[in-house]
Formats: sequence, structure tokens, C-alpha cells
Amino acid sequence: MMARSHSVQFRRPYIGIAAAFSLLVNLGAAQNATKTPSIVHQYAPVAYVESLAVRPNGHILPITTTSSILDELDPETGTLTPVYDFSAVGNAIQGIVALPGDAILVNALICNISQLTCTEGSVHTWRVDFQGHERVEAREIAKWPEAGFLNGMTALNARTVLIADSFLGGIWSVDAHSGDSRLLFTDDSMAPSETIGTGVNGIRVVKGSEGLTLYFTNSALGTLNKMSVNSCTGTKAGNATVIASGLSGPDDFALDFGEGSGFAYLANGAVDQVLKIDLSSAESSVLASLPGPTSLRWSEADEYGQRKGKQSVLYASTIGGLAQYIAHNVTLGGAVYALQV
Ligand SMILES: *[C@@H]1O[C@H](CO)[C@@H](O)[C@H](O)[C@H]1NC(C)=O
Ligand SMILES: *[C@@H]1O[C@H](CO)[C@@H](O)[C@H](O)[C@H]1NC(C)=O
Ligand SMILES: *[C@@H]1O[C@H](CO)[C@@H](O)[C@H](O)[C@H]1NC(C)=O
Repeated sequence: MMARSHSVQFRRPYIGIAAAFSLLVNLGAAQNATKTPSIVHQYAPVAYVESLAVRPNGHILPITTTSSILDELDPETGTLTPVYDFSAVGNAIQGIVALPGDAILVNALICNISQLTCTEGSVHTWRVDFQGHERVEAREIAKWPEAGFLNGMTALNARTVLIADSFLGGIWSVDAHSGDSRLLFTDDSMAPSETIGTGVNGIRVVKGSEGLTLYFTNSALGTLNKMSVNSCTGTKAGNATVIASGLSGPDDFALDFGEGSGFAYLANGAVDQVLKIDLSSAESSVLASLPGPTSLRWSEADEYGQRKGKQSVLYASTIGGLAQYIAHNVTLGGAVYALQV
């Protein structure tokens, strides 16, 4: 999501996807949804569920830009249990990544949901280690005074996490223990547009025979893309290519290489769709229609977050629909859904 720009009025990044997508809202509501999603947890309004991670025990960690509290969601019972309150450093959580083992990094920050903006430079990155059932250890590892808007996160390995900067149009790396960070690169394929402030948004990495590939959405350009990156550092190792274009506020996504050349399950946020996109042909179909999807994660995943096993379920986070935020009349809270794929 977003940050406030003090320099260029129309490049102000917005939470998740941009208000400039308002014209698209409701025009593209999915008609051909093929799956019936089940609700794991429905939040009361106002709850903007930005993303989620899944622990090795199967419990879900949804995050919202409307609360500083990190909760744990038991998918069997649908109940939320508080894990940690980040109110000392922010009122929102934007960005979460599961690390090998039972640990996560989260970005706590300051947002204003009525404006759909977050304060630039306000992110504090925390590491949370789960130690058994009842105990967690949480500590701050990094601050980001020079970042634009930190958005999607993905683990390169147990030590290094990549973070998309939607405003700068590039990728940062952060050491998951020491918090040492650096801007790896910026690229035109990741940049915001003149009118929409959120460029690169969701990111995932995949190990293949030719090294590591970074997949990413660009919300402003409406694209899903890929690029070769160095497998140790995450630095750029080739030019980006567009896999799919013409998307409407594409946000985060999950990958499945179980069959064929692989698929992306993508939150096409501005038009309330979860799309299934063939990574080689770019053929896409609407998997489900959900109110304002933001992110997708597998219930069982490998170290890079890709689907592990046929029984793996797809969890989706939602905001309740972008239109209601733009209209300043939020009547439906966000939710976490489960989709059989
Ligand atoms: C958020 O922005 C609105 C509209 O500008 C303002 O009225 C409100 O006080 C802000 N809230 C916070 C918590 O800053
Ligand atoms: C990447 O693009 C640049 C500029 O268009 C070009 O000069 C360069 O050869 C390209 N690199 C590769 C590996 O294709
Ligand atoms: C707010 O949204 C609800 C649900 O969509 C609608 O019924 C109601 O008329 C809206 N209220 C206003 C003041 O627009």
C-alpha cells in the first residue's frame, strides 16, 4: 500500500491499490466465478486486511492497515487470538513474510484509512519468532526513513528478505536478523505511473534451472511481470518481461508450479476478482469473485511460498471492496477466505 508524497501531488501512493482505480470499480465484477469461497473469518467494519502469512502449524496471520495488532487465526475455528500489539510504533501493519522455521517479519507503520494513505518513512520492521504455543519473541530490526512505500515482501532465503517499494519502483533487501537494508535496484517496469502512485506491489521468487526468477505485479501499469535476479543477493540479473497486462489494480499473488508451466493466482483488486493466470500463455480466468481481494497464500507452501501438495488450500485476504472506501461509506469489513483450487 501507500505513503504520502510531499513532492508530486498526483503520485501520492495509496494503500494497496489506488483511488485512481475508482472508475474501474464495479465495471468488471466477475460474472464467471467458478469456485465458491468459504469465509474463514469475517471482520467487522472497518478492517482493511492487507495480506497474510501461514505458520507451519497451519494457523493464519492476517494483517490489517486498520489495526496495530497482529492476530493469529485458527482456520478450524475461525477465531482470532492476539499475538503482538505494535501500537508503540504505528497504527497499521502493511507487509508480512513467513521465514523458514516459525518466524515472520512484519512492517508496522502509520496509515490513515479514510485517506487511503500511509505516512512515508514511518515503517518499522519487526521480527517475530514463535516459540511453541504460547510464547512469542518480537523485536524491532529496521527503520526506513529513506523508503517510499514498502509493500509486498518475499524471502530470498532464511537470512534475506526482499521488499517492494511501490513509490520508488524498486526492490530493497533486508537482513532478517540484523536488519541491515539496502536499495538493490529500481526499474521502469516497477515504477508508478503519472496518475497512480502504487507501482510494484506483490513479489514472489522462484528457483529454476536458470537461477532465481522474481515475479511481481505493477498496480499502476496493470501488469504481472518476471525478472531474473541474483540468487544470493536479489540484485537485478536481467530485464523484466511482461507476462500479463490489462489487469485492474493487481495486488499480491500466489504461485503454483504443480502442473504445466505454472499458474499465478492473483488479486485483481480494483474489480473484485481472483484470477488464475497461466504463466506461459497469459491465458486468464476468474477463479472467484471476492470483495476487494488483496493477497493470496497457500495453506501449505515450500520455502519460497509456492504451493506444496494437492491438498493445499488458497487463502485470500480482502478489504470489503475498494468502492466503499472511496465513497467514505464502509459497511463491509475485510475477511479471510479459503478457496479450494
Ligand atoms: C485522517 O484523515 C482525515 C481526513 O483528512 C482526518 O480528518 C483525520 O483526522 C485523519 N486521521 C488521523 C488518525 O490522522
Ligand atoms: C536490457 O535492456 C537494455 C536496455 O533496453 C539493453 O541494452 C540490454 O541489452 C538488455 N539486457 C538483456 C540481458 O537483454
Ligand atoms: C452506504 O453503503 C450502504 C451499503 O452499500 C448503502 O446501503 C447506503 O445507502 C450507503 N449510504 C450512503 C450514505 O451512501
